Order: sequence, then structure tokens, then C-alpha cells
Amino acid sequence: MPKVSNKYSFPLNAITTVAQLNDQLDLLESEAMKQIAVSKDPESLESLRVGFFGKKGRLSGILGSMGKLPGNERPLIGQRANLLKTELQKLITKKLEELTTAELNNQLAREAIDVTAPSSGVPFGHRHPLITTTENIVDLFCGLGYSVAEGPEIETDHYNFAALNIPEAHPARDMQDTFYLGGNLLLRTHTSPVQIRYLENNPPPVRIVAPGRVYRRDAVDATHSPVFHQVEVLAIDEGLNFSHLRGTVLAFLKAFFGELPVRFRASYFPFTEPSAEVDVQWRGRWLEVMGCGMVDPAVLEGLGLDPERWSGFAAGLGVERFCMVRHGVDDIRRLYTSDLRFLEQF
Ligand code: DAH
Repeated sequence: MPKVSNKYSFPLNAITTVAQLNDQLDLLESEAMKQIAVSKDPESLESLRVGFFGKKGRLSGILGSMGKLPGNERPLIGQRANLLKTELQKLITKKLEELTTAELNNQLAREAIDVTAPSSGVPFGHRHPLITTTENIVDLFCGLGYSVAEGPEIETDHYNFAALNIPEAHPARDMQDTFYLGGNLLLRTHTSPVQIRYLENNPPPVRIVAPGRVYRRDAVDATHSPVFHQVEVLAIDEGLNFSHLRGTVLAFLKAFFGELPVRFRASYFPFTEPSAEVDVQWRGRWLEVMGCGMVDPAVLEGLGLDPERWSGFAAGLGVERFCMVRHGVDDIRRLYTSDLRFLEQF
């Protein structure tokens, strides 16, 4: 038997005694335990496993040279080798669990969310200035005892024109001014038809405001839009006269604008008599903000109401104008272009 000078480096096929194989197993055991203990990740652990127990690993090498032992000594080495394998497998499994848990903990720590950190803020929407203006107007009239009524945006010739005493030849009926939808239908050009619809179903006394969208065939410019908004006002009772109209309008304008100069100008509308337009002074000029007047007896008669008993006043307010004056907006188009840089100011 050759003498072995260095038990760590001699070739395995030269080993033939139980003692030498036991030394080899001792060596494998201590190396494996050390390397498993310092292993940093599952991959290096796996290559350790292959290196020690794989088909071509060190344990196979040791077992391979077992054949050179006398038959009665082989089980000693075989049993020890099996025990060692089981023990090291356990160590590897345990280490693998440790590494996986540590990696998971690391990941959780890296991705942790600090629920106490201040928020970066969520952008909130808010109501459009035309809507808030409409609501302000409606609220002020509600404070005077009015209720809210609404009507359809698609109207018939009857409600939009005929019932409001607007004659066949009136320019408002022109194709150039009104969006006709075919048949008898059109897009309402004002909120005044709500007066008729309401009075058909509600006997006086009535006090209502009717906000809504209206349509006209106007080209778009700084003060015109084919779609805009009005609030209709209607009060019918016994004994109402022009001073009630004037007092109501002045009280409302003062509440809405504060102390702006106001003037009434004589005007004409087919459904009111007498009629007026109301201007407020804004940026050194008079700006018309509403039409109004005493409801024409012909309108009341058309509804089967006795004009000798009932009288009242009506007004139509241009919401865009109120909004522009209140907020200092000089171009109506800004109210429709949905530019957030503009809208966020309100
Ligand atoms: N409907 C009219 C328009 O759109 C405005 C108006 C004027 C309404 C006088 C009224 C009123 O109720 O009495 O031009």
C-alpha cells in the first residue's frame, strides 16, 4: 500500500483503508459544513450540493473507492456516508430556508411603504364657473321664495315661439337664427318656453326660476356662442306691476354683484309689455345682462288665464354675462374650451 504523505491531496483511487476513507469523510464533512454556513444565496448552495453529492461529486468518489475495501468493512463506510449525506442535506435545506426568508425580508424592507409619509396630493375636480354662477343666481331667487322648474332643450315651434306671442314673421324664427331639427322640432332659442309649460300645469300664483342651455345659430366670437345658458324668471300673481319687477331685479343684482351701477332701458319682446333690458356698468361700459317685462296679456289668454285677474313679470338672464362680469373673463370662448390652466382658477 503506498504511503500517503498528504491526506488532502492524494488521488482517491489510491485509498484503500477504512481509516483513510473515514478521514476523507471527516474532511468532506467539515468543509461542507463550513461552506454551507457561509453560503450567501440559493445558487451557490445548489452548486455546493452538486459538488458534494452529485453523480460526479466528492461523496460518489469516496463511495467509488469503497470497492477496494474488504467486504466486511464496506458497510462501515457506507453507513457513515449515508448518515453524512442525510445530515448535510438537512443543513442545506435549513440554510436554503434561511436564505429565502432573508431575501424575502430584504425585499419587503426595500419595498416597504411608509404610510405616514405626506401624500403628494390627488387632483380634485370642481364645478365649472358657469355651473356655480347658475347656482348662485338660482339660490338668490330661491331666497326670495322662488322654486326651480326645468324644460326640454328640444322644443316645438308652439312652445318656443307661438305660445310666446312671437309672430310668424319674427326674425327669431328665421332659419338663420334657429337650429331646426326637422318636423316641428327645434333646439330652444331661450328658456322662455318653460314659462308656458309650467303655467299649463301649475295654476298661479307662481314664482319660478328655470335654468338651462339654449341654442342659436351664432358664429363664435368673444361674446357669442351657439350654445349658452339662461335663467328664466317668472312671477304671476294678483296685483303684480312693474315696480315689483324692478324691485326684484334690483334686489337680485345687488345681491349678486354688490354695488354696481344698473340701468333699465325700454325694449321690446313679443311676450312682455312693457319690456326692458337691464344693463350693468362694467369696465366703464354698459353691458346688457337680462331682458324682462310684464307678461303680455296675450300670453296669459293663450293659457286660459284671465289677464284682468292675473298679472306678472318675467325675465331672461344671460348666465355667461353674469359669470364674465363676476370673474373678469373677457372672452366667452374661455368658458367652453376646457383649458385647465383657465378653469383651475375658479
Ligand atoms: N327670452 C329672451 C331672449 O332670449 C329674454 C327675455 C326677455 C326673457 C324678456 C323674458 C323676458 O322672460 O320677459 O332674448
